[in-house]
Amino acid sequence: MSNPGSRYGLEGRRVLVTGSTRGIGRAIAELLLAEGSVVGIHGRDPEKVNEVCQALGAASSIPVAADFADPAEVRGAVKTFMETAGGIDGLVNNAGGGRAVSFRGLKIDAWQQTMRVNLEASMIASQEAYGAMRRQRSGSIVNIASISAHGPGGWMGADYAASKAGLISLTQTLAQEAARFGIRVNAVSPGFVSTDMTADIPEEKRSSLGIPLRRLGEPREVAAVVGFLLSDGASYLTGQAIHVDGGLWMNG
Ligand code: NAI
Repeated sequence: MSNPGSRYGLEGRRVLVTGSTRGIGRAIAELLLAEGSVVGIHGRDPEKVNEVCQALGAASSIPVAADFADPAEVRGAVKTFMETAGGIDGLVNNAGGGRAVSFRGLKIDAWQQTMRVNLEASMIASQEAYGAMRRQRSGSIVNIASISAHGPGGWMGADYAASKAGLISLTQTLAQEAARFGIRVNAVSPGFVSTDMTADIPEEKRSSLGIPLRRLGEPREVAAVVGFLLSDGASYLTGQAIHVDGGLWMNG
């Protein structure tokens, strides 16, 4: 390993991280750039994407702007990254989001938008990357799901929970097919992580969440697990969903 700062041996790996202009995605991109990987920085707004590339290190980052509610833009984004990087070794399907909404208040437009961005875009991006990974007989795909995927949605709406449960199913089904080509597919299910998505949770609610480790997670704590899953250290791991939630899943 020639990069002395590397913890995961990901030097030179070409990895597209979707939704990496802020939050968890940005922390994953930062970790990969510190590793010496070539990283696709993706977001909706081209100016913001360029700004983040400049801030994180323009030499090894590839800007990719695309609205993931549009299937054609998703395909285009992965193609652009692969053309510029000369291939793809890793894909992190992180772009997504949702809101707290009651079941009665859930509108079909919001449901479809959540499905498009959180689930369909991950399927389409994976399909694009999978073709190239199959040809090279190697690759690692990591899907950022949620604790909401494994039971009732909790504070998030049914659209969000269902989209993330679908992402776990996609992870397992693709992992099964891809294994024979040396491609691993795993998911990470974060609990509550300090990002824009959780910024609105009031202080009194935070202390009553019942998180065994008694705090919200930091984006870099999710990134550390993603880095491991992308690395050869996880070479015998596929079809898994790893909870990164301070032990919250134990509460049932
Ligand atoms: P965030 O809101 O800070 O970042 C979301 C990223 O996705 C941004 O870069 C945004 O540009 C991108 N994105 C959203 N919609 C998009 C669209 N239509 N087209 C292109 N890009 C789009 O959120 P955070 O917290 O960093 O979340 C990242 C992932 O982790 C999401 O998939 C989220 O569901 C998941 N997650 C987050 C948790 C948390 O507590 N923060 C808990 C469980 C899962």
